[in-house]
Amino acid sequence: ELLLGLCALGGYLLGSVPFGIVLTKPFGYDLRSIGSGNIGATNVLRTGRKDLALATLLLDSGKGGIAAAVAALLVPDQAGVAGLIAGCCAVLGHNFPVWLGFKGGKGVATTLGVLLVTSWPVGLAACATWLVVAALSRYSSLSALVCLALAPVDAWFLSDQDHVIAYALLAVLAFIRHHENIRRLLRGEESKIGKKKKD
Ligand code: G3P
Repeated sequence: ELLLGLCALGGYLLGSVPFGIVLTKPFGYDLRSIGSGNIGATNVLRTGRKDLALATLLLDSGKGGIAAAVAALLVPDQAGVAGLIAGCCAVLGHNFPVWLGFKGGKGVATTLGVLLVTSWPVGLAACATWLVVAALSRYSSLSALVCLALAPVDAWFLSDQDHVIAYALLAVLAFIRHHENIRRLLRGEESKIGKKKKD
């Protein structure tokens, strides 16, 4: 139990590193006053810097994946559960980072990293779903909501019960964090991928 607690704490701390802010601040951007005000890759893209957006996507998803992978290695006899706990805590760290007064992001990239490491077939299905919905709709938030809502369903067929439960919790968390996006989508006011206009 002590080890699982350490995995949870380590996952939270790693997840709480806000790479979007870390990468854009040196270039003089204040993500909080751009677009949606969010700290994620989608909003970094609204600065016009595709390179920084890609780096944010990779690092934010990487920290989720690494948290899950390291935890699984540290607790080999409960590798599956340890990876899921550390991964979920990394998403909590991203969404509620202690360094930013618990005002963080929406956890999409970090969750995708956790899915890819804890159940790669579900992770690949989720990434593919994101890409298809994004290609059709141009809405990053809608793509995230659809692919994360489907993740527990994918896990039902492709993985086991622990994964179904963990991914369902992550999907609920993502919907809660996207409440403003959902309102904008319903009103037809959500901004499309790459648009710099203020939401
Ligand atoms: O990953 C977050 C994305 O789903 C929405 O981002 O900046 O449009 O609120 P944003």
